[in-house]
Amino acid sequence: MNKTTLHLHPAFTIDEVDPRIFGGFLEHLGRAVYEGVYQPGSAHADESGCRTDVMDALRQLKFTAMRYPGGNFVSGYDWMDGVGPKENRPRKVDLAWQSLETNEFGTNEFMDLSRKMGWTPMMAVNLGTGTPAEARNWLEYCNGNAGSYYADLRVSHGYAAPHDIKLWCLGNEMDGPWQIGHVPAQDYAIRAQQTARLMKMFDPSVELVVCGSCAPELGTYMQWDRQVLEYLYNDVDYISLHRYVGNSAQDTEDYLAVGASIDKQIQEQVNVCRYVASVKRSKKKVNLSFDEWNVWYRARDGEFADGKGKIAPPLLEEVYNLEDVLVVAQFLNSFIRHADTVKIANIAQIVNVIAPILTRGDEVLIQSIFYPIAMFAERRDGTSLRVATEGPVVNSKSYGTTAMVDSSAILNGNSLSVFAVNRNPNESVELAIRPGSGQILSVRNADIVTGTDPNAANSYENPNVVTRQPFDQFTVTNGIATTVLPPLSVVAVTFDYAA
Ligand code: AHR
Repeated sequence: MNKTTLHLHPAFTIDEVDPRIFGGFLEHLGRAVYEGVYQPGSAHADESGCRTDVMDALRQLKFTAMRYPGGNFVSGYDWMDGVGPKENRPRKVDLAWQSLETNEFGTNEFMDLSRKMGWTPMMAVNLGTGTPAEARNWLEYCNGNAGSYYADLRVSHGYAAPHDIKLWCLGNEMDGPWQIGHVPAQDYAIRAQQTARLMKMFDPSVELVVCGSCAPELGTYMQWDRQVLEYLYNDVDYISLHRYVGNSAQDTEDYLAVGASIDKQIQEQVNVCRYVASVKRSKKKVNLSFDEWNVWYRARDGEFADGKGKIAPPLLEEVYNLEDVLVVAQFLNSFIRHADTVKIANIAQIVNVIAPILTRGDEVLIQSIFYPIAMFAERRDGTSLRVATEGPVVNSKSYGTTAMVDSSAILNGNSLSVFAVNRNPNESVELAIRPGSGQILSVRNADIVTGTDPNAANSYENPNVVTRQPFDQFTVTNGIATTVLPPLSVVAVTFDYAA
């Protein structure tokens, strides 16, 4: 049988895991907002029209930073349309998704929901059709103390206390030719710098995310990042990267090696950040905000962006399967392994639109990818440890050579959590976890998602085809833990640990 040993050492730390890498993304797109988190007519609606069944499911994912309101949507959005008495809010055509936006849900509704959910709001300003001044006005509306126009407007809308939103994105995917208001890097950099300076002049405590490359396939990949950072490195705190992956070729073995390319993408962007910092002789460290990531390839045909002028049309309603579970776990492993640079990451998205949860009428369906997110989120506190993997590799035609077992580890006092994915669709792997100078004492808890069919998926008719199960197959001897990982499996385990 294949054998893999994960060598860890408590002294070989990467960095604290930033809880914000367990972020989400809520966009005015399809049925994400309307019929997703917000549906006043639903049997599950609370006093503000939010769905309690959806909120209960989302709570299990312990999301931290929540990005809003887009996405491509934000590049045509006027934030003023979404505040004030609902009866006065205009219906607008959303060109990004060819839909009709009622604006019933806007800044204050999002903030109310964020408070209920314990989310850290992460707002994206419109740098497509919007101006630096409009972005600054929105910041005043959200964060200003009463006594000036936009802050008083918020007060008049029933919110006396500032929302105090710290995290702001300077537009969305501005390198993408599909983006409303897309411009070359240099033009975007000027726009973003003007906006950044206005925003920091108004509220120096805000943290800003500048748009980096949104896909490795684009011709401007990393040149965009270099040009933008050369212009405004000292004005921003993070640079974004996005990634959607899929198995269009129906080649499970190849698809399950995709994590190697996620590491590569992160490393390439870190390299550009370091290069620009060196050229500028800057002591500042711009970190990464991986603020859109997921599996997305099925609901992506020629018309995927066409809502046909409807309110809340079903768009991007991807159905996830078992192999996607392993890929989602690889994204999370990669973020943990890069804890020193990836400080924010947002799964795109949270409900109905490429999401772990779907709704149909008053029903909620938990999709397969819900489970790895929950399993990681429950064990996310602590310091990421380097994992040296000794064992067989897979040679993938698209992503090169990578370990058969993809893993990460988090140490938190006397608890050690390890996350392991067996990428092999057919064979088990004997796994040993050796914690260097420390000792694994016992298993506190462990969970697995596995199965025999990579295409197995949950449906309203059969909702429990792919779920998490308790995993009791670890043996601990002489401070070392061993188990057998079945083919196509993700295991998350927490051990009692002594240094
Ligand atoms: O998450 C769906 C879309 O994907 C977002 O609106 C956009 O930023 C990306 O292209």
